[in-house]
Amino acid sequence: MRSLVVPAVFFGALLASCDDHQIGQAPLVGTSCLREPPLTYENFGSDLLNRHCNSCHSVYSRKGQRGQAPLDVNFDTWDDVLFWADRISARSVESETMPPAGGMVPDERVLLGEWLRCEVYPALGQVGGGPGTNQTEGGGT
Ligand code: HEC
Repeated sequence: MRSLVVPAVFFGALLASCDDHQIGQAPLVGTSCLREPPLTYENFGSDLLNRHCNSCHSVYSRKGQRGQAPLDVNFDTWDDVLFWADRISARSVESETMPPAGGMVPDERVLLGEWLRCEVYPALGQVGGGPGTNQTEGGGT
């Protein structure tokens, strides 16, 4: 029984922390980069892109299987992500125009935004913006 209740409560806390920016309450998820462990290409980004994007945006999808996605827009590798980061954000975080038929729930877009802000943009040498970005101190090990 309890195992059903706890995730629901935790999930609610996540959503609340995104909406009202209550710093100091609940984990700072969605507005900062304090998640432990952080979202990475390995534990999050690669899987999300494979599930939601790469049926069309992969070099391994043949021309007729790509749903008309441009042949040069692929998200198979970390380097692809670095190259397309701004456009991934524009199409799937700031707007919901990708995937064309939807299929991503709002939380996935929030997490995608967090990953871009906290791992991808810093790797590009860009500061992603938003309070708490890149705060690493205080975490210990
Ligand atoms: C069903 C096929 C399909 C899926 C799945 C899909 N796309 Fe696309 N994508 C397209 C098509 C078609 C275009 C070209 C037309 C357009 O830009 O709207 C495109 C173009 C793009 C572009 C290049 C144009 C630009 O705005 O810079 C980006 C970036 C992009 N998609 C991101 C994504 C992301 C991120 C996902 C997953 C979250 C995704 N797409 C999922 C079909 C798809």
